[in-house]
Amino acid sequence: MKIGIIGGTGREGKGIALRWARAGHDVTIGSRDGERGRQKASELSQTAARPIAGGSNTDAVAAGEVVLLSVPYGAHASTLTGLAEGLSGKILIDITVPLKPPKVRRVQLPDGQAAALEAQALLGDTVHVAAALHHVSSALLADPDREIACDVLVCADKKTVRDTVIELIGDLGLRGLTADSLANAVALESLTPVLLQLNKAYGAGEVGVRFTGIPESSE
Ligand SMILES: NC(=O)c1ccc[n+]([C@@H]2O[C@H](COP(=O)([O-])OP(=O)(O)OC[C@H]3O[C@@H](n4cnc5c(N)ncnc54)[C@H](OP(=O)(O)O)[C@@H]3O)[C@@H](O)[C@H]2O)c1
Repeated sequence: MKIGIIGGTGREGKGIALRWARAGHDVTIGSRDGERGRQKASELSQTAARPIAGGSNTDAVAAGEVVLLSVPYGAHASTLTGLAEGLSGKILIDITVPLKPPKVRRVQLPDGQAAALEAQALLGDTVHVAAALHHVSSALLADPDREIACDVLVCADKKTVRDTVIELIGDLGLRGLTADSLANAVALESLTPVLLQLNKAYGAGEVGVRFTGIPESSE
């Protein structure tokens, strides 16, 4: 599949790009600075042993059938506003956690209740917004050979969109599970500050979530 990553030069985006490229997808990483995007893509391509393309965020949106958004919450609305037209008709996977520094270990719901709901409201119905990957640390994703014992809850209003995203999560080496409609992104995004709190409380760096009781045949 052709996948574009907005903010693909960052901590989370780079690991995701690497893992999807290794799974055989055609990945384009984007940046505010097209040259920076190309440079990072060239570095990642060597590790992936497969070409990863790079350019501006507009280039990444244009290249992807599915587009993943990976920028800090502070840049969420402004980034999407500039890219809205190109996203029409596509799936947008929003991994944003609406953290408000410096209190990143405290749940602080944004005005629209969830970043993914704000994205859907901003972009309109022609863009199929999904929410996922809020609980997987960039440190874990960065090493493509590392197994990650973490589940990924996926929200989207259409089942076909959830199914596509869950399959792509599988290609990252993770188990994707349906968490139903995009309204449930409030719960997903809210859990991350709690995980950050657990990291601090137990001196860990990579606390994640794993659900029990789900039959293997459902995975
Ligand atoms: N890090 C994690 O472990 C983790 C885990 C789960 C979810 N997330 C979520 O994933 C998203 C990305 O996290 P990250 O840690 O990868 O962030 P990051 O490395 O700080 O930033 C990602 C990219 O966003 C772009 N960016 C930074 N500031 C920007 C601005 N003001 N306007 C537009 N673009 C900007 C930068 O790309 P250019 O400078 O190249 O444009 C940067 O490489 C966040 O929403 C975060 O909540 C992160």
